[in-house]
Parts: sequence; C-alpha cells; structure tokens
Amino acid sequence: MSDCMRDWRYEATIISGLWVHETSQMSDFFEKSDICEVSSAQQHLTNMVIRSHMGLQTSPLKFAIVGCGGIIAPTHVKALRQIPNAQIAAMCDINPETGKPRADEVGCPFFADHTELLEKIKPDVVTVCTPHPVHARIALDAFAAGAHVLTEKPMSVEVALADRMIAAADAAGKLLAVNFQQRFKPSIERAKALVDNGEIGDLVRVLVVEPWLRTYAYYRLSAWRGNWVGEGGAVLLNQSPHTLDLLCHLAGAPRKVWGWIRTLYHQIECEDTFQAMLEYPNGAPGYITSSTGEAGVQRRIQIVGDRGALELVGDTLSVYRFTPSTREFLRTSPEPFGQPDTQVEVVDLPGDAGGHLAVYQDLIAAIAEGRQPRASGREGLMSLELANAITLSSFAERAVTLPLDREEYTDLLNDLKAGRRKL
Ligand SMILES: NC(=O)c1ccc[n+]([C@@H]2O[C@H](COP(=O)([O-])OP(=O)(O)OC[C@H]3O[C@@H](n4cnc5c(N)ncnc54)[C@H](O)[C@@H]3O)[C@@H](O)[C@H]2O)c1
Repeated sequence: MSDCMRDWRYEATIISGLWVHETSQMSDFFEKSDICEVSSAQQHLTNMVIRSHMGLQTSPLKFAIVGCGGIIAPTHVKALRQIPNAQIAAMCDINPETGKPRADEVGCPFFADHTELLEKIKPDVVTVCTPHPVHARIALDAFAAGAHVLTEKPMSVEVALADRMIAAADAAGKLLAVNFQQRFKPSIERAKALVDNGEIGDLVRVLVVEPWLRTYAYYRLSAWRGNWVGEGGAVLLNQSPHTLDLLCHLAGAPRKVWGWIRTLYHQIECEDTFQAMLEYPNGAPGYITSSTGEAGVQRRIQIVGDRGALELVGDTLSVYRFTPSTREFLRTSPEPFGQPDTQVEVVDLPGDAGGHLAVYQDLIAAIAEGRQPRASGREGLMSLELANAITLSSFAERAVTLPLDREEYTDLLNDLKAGRRKL
C-alpha cells in the first residue's frame, strides 16, 4: 500500500466524523486499491463515508477519563476534542472537588467510582490518568467491562502487574496502549525508521543523558509523589519512563543491567537520580543517566552502529554514515589511526507534532484496523522492566539480567513500601 493510501485509510477512520465498526470492508478496499493520487483517494474516501452512512453501523467512540481532576487529564480532554468521532462519555475522579467541575465543563456525567462508571456508561475506551499504582486495577476492571485502555505512563509500578494487564487485554480481545507520546515526534519517528531500515547497522554503543529538573514545590504538589507506596519510585517511574521508552524503542531491550539509584537533591523517599550500565544481546555497551536535580543541558541520545550513528540533541537529529562499515574498516584499513569516510547529515524535519492527539489517532486507527497500537502494552513493558531492573540492581549491588525476576522485584518493592528497606 502506498503512503498516500495509508494516510487516507487513517483519514477515513478519523476525519469522517464517524466511528465505523464494520471496518473490514474499508480495510479491504484500501489493501486492494492501487490508487495513489490523493485527489482520487479523497473521492473514494468520500464515497466510503457515504456508504458507511447508508449501510454500516456507525456511532461515536465513547471514551471515559479516570483521574480527570489532576494535572494531565486536561491534555487528554484537549486531544479528544480534536477528534470528531470521539465522544467523552464520562469522567471519574475519587476527588469530586477537582473532578466534577472538569466533567461539568466537558458536559458529561461524573463518577467518583470507576466501577460505577464502567457499569453505567459502558465506554469503548478508558483513559487512565490516575497516579501509577492505580493504573493496573483500573485497566483490569476496564478490560473485564469490555473496554480498550489507554493508560498514562508508566503502565504500572511493577512488571508483575504490567504482565497481568497485558494478559487481561489479550484475554478480553481488547487493546492496551501506553501514553508514550514522544514516540510520535518527527525526530523519533525518523530515528526509528533509520534503525529499522538497517542504516545504523549492528549496535556498537548507546548513550542517553536526560535531565528532568523538578523543584521542591513539584514534590509537594500531591502526597503520592516521591514515595514507595504512592508512586513506586520517583524519577525512574515518573519522568524517565519517556527516556527509557525511547531508549528501548530505538535500541531494543538490553539483556543485562547494572543500576545505581540515589536520593541526592530532594526530601523524598525514592530516587531522584539514577545511572545504569547496559549490555545488549550482541554484547554492545550502553549507558543512561537522569536526575530531577540537574538543570541545563538538552536530552542527548546516541545510538551508534557499525554502519552509521544517530544523535538526538533535543529534537535535532544528526545522522552519521560510515563507508566502509566500522567492522570492515577495522579489519581492512592499513592505517593505524584512520577513520572510515563519515558523512554527517542534520535531518530536516517538520515542526514538532505528535503529542496526545497522535496517540489517540493511532489507538483509534488500531481499533479500526484490528492491529496493536504503536505504544502497546508489550512495548510499554520494556521501559518499566528496565526501571525495575535498575532499582533491583542498585539494591542488590549486582548486575540483573532481563527478563527480570518478577517475584524478586515484588518482594523488594513490598519491603520498600513497608519501610523494611530504605534507599
Ligand atoms: N504522558 C505524560 O507526559 C504525562 C505527564 C504528566 C503525568 N503523566 C502521568 O499521568 C498520571 C497522573 O499524573 P498527574 O500529574 O495528572 O497526577 P495528579 O495527582 O495531578 O492527578 C491524578 C488524579 O487521579 C485521581 N485519582 C487517584 N486515584 C484515583 C482512583 N482510584 N480513581 C479515580 N481517580 C483517582 C486523583 O484524585 C487526581 O485528581 C501519572 O501516572 C503520571 O505519570 C503523564
């Protein structure tokens, strides 16, 4: 299928202003079609929409937002309001003081209990915007009620619960998406395409540095922040899930982790700073560090392969191409201090796009097409597994191999929550 057709298939599910439940006819049409003129595609799209009005069952997709009274919920409301066939059918928060005015403003029913919402509203999709320890429970209840789930990151605080979320989605035949909106940035999409197309070659080294400065006032925003019971971690569970996700998205999951976590700057129970040494399946080394006490520099991600490298500084993407490959150059060059010919390109990218809107658009298209969303539960698990591994490794003062021992991590987290172990 050409790119233009892919775009139009997406448009067909989004811009039509309809929710087309019987999408197989639409998918078949686009799969079989060899149309690549946008204008013809648009004409056919219009016909499809008219046909869907006439024949197929159509209705708006009903979304429910749980945790609607907090900081991130309005971003979800804003995104959903931009999608014509998405209806915010209900909102929920255990705190009616902050939650109810939000629901009133949207003009939808408000619930203080998500189980009541699920029973009465029967939403198609539940968006989970609560603190992370509650994500799993709400997602499991939503799957049991027959809904798809978009959960805020991190999908849970521990891998054992994330496994249960993935299994429950599979058992219910529903989709689980994790809100990793940074994956949809043009710079990240291009970087991912370069890796997937083999332009970087075999992995040689990875480096990720990302400061996530947060003030004392930030940790006072709500009681759940920065403690083991309320959050299950701090920078590793709140800010760095994005960083860890991009690392795993671009370089894959490492096989071994040496982690180090500390509380250096804030009056909190959990880590505000971490670093980790990584070993990838082919033996390549990696390093990642982040802190909520560091200011100044932009995020830097380097993924170095034997055919090329990519470097992201903020959203600026540079690509290095080596001729011949480093592996061949090492073997064949007679020069002791030589370098392969290296071409550097600063990639010209469209302005920043993506965000929560792109996450919803992808999820809605995934439901229509019967595919997994781009940041699915299994994809979202990778960064959580890495975060948990870094914490476990730091406490155990040894390397940890992935997949992580679920029971060992649950035991550690329970000890930390009960105050039997401290950082
Ligand atoms: N994707 C992003 O870039 C991004 C940005 C910010 C926050 N987040 C994530 O969103 C989640 C919420 O963060 P926040 O900053 O909005 O927190 P918040 O404390 O501001 O809001 C959380 C809301 O959930 C409500 N709540 C708690 N338990 C509930 C329950 N059982 N049922 C219903 N409501 C419940 C609280 O009353 C509160 O209104 C976190 O997991 C966080 O990591 C993601």
